[in-house]
Amino acid sequence: MRIHHIGYAVREIGPAAAVFESLGFAKAREIVRDEVRAVEILFMRNGESLIELVAPQHDGSPVVGHLRKSGPSPYHICYETDILETRVAAMRAEGCILVEAIREAPAIGGRRVAFLYNAKIGLVELVEA
Ligand code: NI
Repeated sequence: MRIHHIGYAVREIGPAAAVFESLGFAKAREIVRDEVRAVEILFMRNGESLIELVAPQHDGSPVVGHLRKSGPSPYHICYETDILETRVAAMRAEGCILVEAIREAPAIGGRRVAFLYNAKIGLVELVEA
C-alpha cells in the first residue's frame, strides 16, 4: 500500500500550518471540523507529500492524550487501499486493535477510513482509494 499522508497532532492549526508553509507546504483544502473525533483538520501538500494537521477542539478529543504524552508530533501514517474491509480484517487477524471502525471522514472528501493500533509500529490509518 502506498502512503497517502502523515498525520501530525498539533495544538493549533494556524501556527503549525505557518511552520509547514516555511517548509514548502501549501494548504490542499480548507480546514474541516470533524465533530465525531472532536478535531480540526487541515491537509497540506508539498509535491507528492501530503500531511494532515490534527488539532483538538477540546480536552475530550482523542488527540489530546498524544499531545500530553509526546507534544506536537507525527502520530499516524495513512495507507491507501482499494480493499479496505479486507485490509482491516487481515490486520485484525494479525493482532491489530481496531481503534476506529470504518467510517466516512469529512476532512478527506467523505472517503472511508479506519484506524488500527499495531503494538509494534503504533497507529495506522487506512483510507479507501
Ligand atoms: Ni489521517
